[in-house]
Formats: sequence, C-alpha cells, structure tokens
Amino acid sequence: MNNRRARTVLALLSCCFCLSLAQQPGRFNIVLQNAGISSMHTAVTHYGNVIFLDRTNIGPSAINLVGNCRDNPADMMTTHDCTAHSVIYDPSSNTVRPVFIYSDTWCSSGQFLPNGTLMQTGGSSDGGSIIRYFTPCSSGSWCNWMESSTNLQSSRWYASNQILPDGRIIVVGGRGVYNYEFQPTGGQFYLQFLKDTADFQDDNLYPYLHLLPSNLLYIFANRDSILLNYFTNTVVRKFPTIPGEPRNYPCSGSSVMLALDTANSYSKAEVLVCGGANQASFKNSDAQYGASQTCGRMEVTSNSPYWDMSYMPFRRNMGDMVLLPTAKVLIINGAQNGSQGYLLASNPILNPLLYDPDKKTFEIQAPSTIPRVYHSTANLLPDGRVLVAGSNTRYTYQYTGPFPTELRVETFSPAYLDATNDWLRPRIAKNPFTITYGMPFSVDVAIPGKLVGNIQLTLLSSPFTTHSFSQGQRQLKLPVAASVLSYANTYYVASTAPPSSVVAPPSYYMLFALHNGIPSQAVWVLVTS
Ligand SMILES: *[C@@H]1O[C@H](CO)[C@@H](O)[C@H](O)[C@H]1NC(C)=O
Ligand SMILES: *[C@@H]1O[C@H](CO)[C@@H](O)[C@H](O)[C@H]1NC(C)=O
Repeated sequence: MNNRRARTVLALLSCCFCLSLAQQPGRFNIVLQNAGISSMHTAVTHYGNVIFLDRTNIGPSAINLVGNCRDNPADMMTTHDCTAHSVIYDPSSNTVRPVFIYSDTWCSSGQFLPNGTLMQTGGSSDGGSIIRYFTPCSSGSWCNWMESSTNLQSSRWYASNQILPDGRIIVVGGRGVYNYEFQPTGGQFYLQFLKDTADFQDDNLYPYLHLLPSNLLYIFANRDSILLNYFTNTVVRKFPTIPGEPRNYPCSGSSVMLALDTANSYSKAEVLVCGGANQASFKNSDAQYGASQTCGRMEVTSNSPYWDMSYMPFRRNMGDMVLLPTAKVLIINGAQNGSQGYLLASNPILNPLLYDPDKKTFEIQAPSTIPRVYHSTANLLPDGRVLVAGSNTRYTYQYTGPFPTELRVETFSPAYLDATNDWLRPRIAKNPFTITYGMPFSVDVAIPGKLVGNIQLTLLSSPFTTHSFSQGQRQLKLPVAASVLSYANTYYVASTAPPSSVVAPPSYYMLFALHNGIPSQAVWVLVTS
C-alpha cells in the first residue's frame, strides 16, 4: 500500500471508529494511572472517598507504606513487606493514601454498619476468621484499618454479607462452609441449601443475597435460590432453577435487586441475574467455552415466581452490575469466554450494557480500552459516575503478558452526565443529614431553567463490591408529595423517608434528585430510627 492509500484507509477506519464511538452512549475516562494496588474489593465511604483492597499475601504492591512495614510470619509470599495492600482513593483529587492491613483479605466480604464504619470479614490463610473495621474520615484526615480481637465463628473464604434491619450483618457461606452467622452478635446456623448447591467445583461461592421487604433473605447460589427466614432458620420457599449456566463463582455472573418502589408501597421485589459461565469452563480452561449470554429476572415476592429470560447482546462472565440513579442497571467489566479465576478467561468485553427494567432492553455503551477481568470492581460514585478499578491482581503484580495486573482507575460516565443534559441537571440545594423511618422530610432542588416533567428522589446504598457482586446494593424510589417553586428556580420537594428498617436497613445512603430523568449529584443521608 502506498502512503496516500494507507492514509486514506486509516482516515476511513478512524472515522468509522469515531462514528461508532459517537453513536454509543457514555464514556470512559482514565482518572488515575497508578492506584498503587489493583483493587479486588472496593467500597465508597460516606465521606465520598473510596476504600481499595487487594490481598496481603501476593508480594509487594506498587505503593509503599509510610514509615511502616508488615511483618507477618503467616504470609506465604513476603513475611516482611513494606508495601500497602489497601489504599484510600480520593475522587476529588485523584490521589491515593496507603493504609496498613495485617491479615489476608483475599476473597473476603464486607458491609457498612449503620454508623458508616465498614465491617470487613474473612479472607484466606491467617485472615479467614478475622473481622476488620474501617471507620472512614474526610480525605485530609487520618484513618486506618483496625483488626478486631473477636473472630468470625467460621473461617470464611468467598462469603457474602448483608446488613439486616437491626443493624447486624449476616455472613453467608464460604468455601466448604455450609452455614451462616450473625455479627457482631448472634449465633451460627447450618444451611443445607449451601451444601446442595456446592457442585464439584463449588459453583455456590459468593452467593447473591438480597434482603426483601418481607424481611426474608433471598439467597441465590449456583442455579438455585431460596427464601430464608433467618429468625427461625427455616427455608420458606425454593424457587425454580434458572435456565442455563451456573451463575456464581467460579462461573460468575452478577445480580441485583431492582429498585424498590414507593408506587407499590415497596412491596414488590425483582431480582436480576445476568451472565455466568459454562460449567466445564473452570476445570477445562483450555477450551475457553463461551460465557452465558442470558439474564434471568424474577419477581421473588410473587405467588407464582418464574424466570423471565432474555438475551444480552454479548456473552459475559465476571460482569459487575451497578444500580444507577435512573434505576437502570449498568452491566460492566468481564470476559466473553472462560470462567472466573486467575488467567482462566479470554476475549474481554469492553462495552458495558445499560439495562432498562421498564422496557427490558439492553443498550450497548461506549467501550473502555482496558480489559477488566478477574478481581475487577465497579461502584457508583455520588457524582453519578461509575468507578472502575482492578483486574488480574496477580502474584508479585505482573504488568506484562496477556493478563497484566491493572493499576489504572477509570470512571464510566453514563449519558446522563453529557453536557447536553446540563440544561436539565438539578442540584440539591438544601437537605437533611438524617431522615427517620416513616417521617416526612424535604429537600430544596435547584434547576437551571423551567421545570420539565417532574422531580424524583431516589436513595442508593453503598455496597461492598468484589467478585462481580455488590454486597448490600439497594435502591429505593421515594415518594414525592409536592414540588413547589419556593424561590428562583428552586423547588421545595416534599417526601417521606422509607417506612422501616426492613425496606431500608439503617445506613448512609446517597440521595439523588432527578429532573426529567437527569440526576443531580448525591448528598449522603443517614437513614435511621
Ligand atoms: C461504629 O461501630 C463499630 C462497631 O461497633 C465501632 O467499631 C466503630 O468505632 C463505630 N464507628 C463510629 C464512627 O462510631
Ligand atoms: C468464545 O466462545 C464463542 C462462543 O461459544 C466461540 O465461538 C469462540 O470460539 C470462543 N473463543 C475462543 C477464543 O475460544
């Protein structure tokens, strides 16, 4: 090819590329080149900064501890390690601060307590029974991990946590652990369902937990699901088996409970499970079987529940599902072949999907340039972006080859953040810091011009995200009794807090206002009794 033809072809190609980019909604931005660690567990605190965690027994990370080293004789890689395995990321300055953690957090679980402290549980080797606390602080201040002297009742690797209405945490399962326990107080109870769903490769790990408005706990593992009455330790319902592939680690798909809605008094709960992997793909990774292409949706509060199946435009395992302020679901990260686990997947899927629960459609979003496979995370930020971190948190952090350890942090900005929506974008001008179950409250919402459509309010919890499941992710569409113009372009919006701690367990939530479907930045409110 001569130079001129090459240039023409290039111009055509790049034009097609920019056209297709322009047509696909949303955009990725790399916000940090080096987070110091590759985050496999991520949680956004109510100070707006973000806890990143990898694992301790992996060799040195890419960021040093400050004036400190870790001497842990139980560490199988580095008994003397002066690097950090947790950092606090500040989205406003795009900087990280290293924090010290002692025991191994590999494949652990977590959940925010009602007072905003993260309780983080279990992991591998010396970390299996450990309970850790991180009490967050503003970015200029100093706060650190604290390891409790009280242990879990069982050593748990690959368990899932869910906050309960009374503020305690239920910790469910783990590899070879067929029970659940309550923290910080309460007993431990055998659960046959966990044994029944443990196949030859344990496709029941990191079970999906959703606390229903009936105060029963929905538990999904492998291809099956139940409702657990956790007061009496009885299984009150067994649901139909989902068609298709196993859906939990290592055949990981992902799952959310769709937004609970004041329109039906928060009584209806629907669970969505998307993606997964061919059951043979973990043991026979050479085959690189195609991942699952299906989503199942089930109204789990119905008297006759069934899986409503649909096809996604792409196959996906190791996806993450993020509830957005619009109550749509972003399906992001993962690969199209293979299974979850180190080096076991291929064909990374760079385009997220936006699932619309009303229309039941999947909209293909603009792609990333960075594969996010095993040990990657996605979390909603209070400014409406989705923070994407981690991937291939490999031994000794390997930056070359087909599965490089990924230190870059990106954000995905859904199309609602486009400047073309700025003329609608609302701003919460005044809000309570605390709202009380069942009690009225109000916010002042400023809009740029005339009111178009209506103003809505939504609450979103901050989950603990790891291994394609965001533990404790929850959304509520709140009532809006009236939006009254009170002063220049500012509306007094009257609402009522969630009726009970069953509908919204006590915690800090992000409160978003939406104007004609375009969200504001969130404010943090404490939902409490
Ligand atoms: C929140 O509660 C936990 C557990 O009781 C405690 O360790 C932590 O210090 C508390 N945090 C705050 C900010 O009071
Ligand atoms: C990935 O899976 C698809 C669908 O099964 C298959 O056609 C393709 O050959 C697989 N890719 C690789 C690299 O094995």
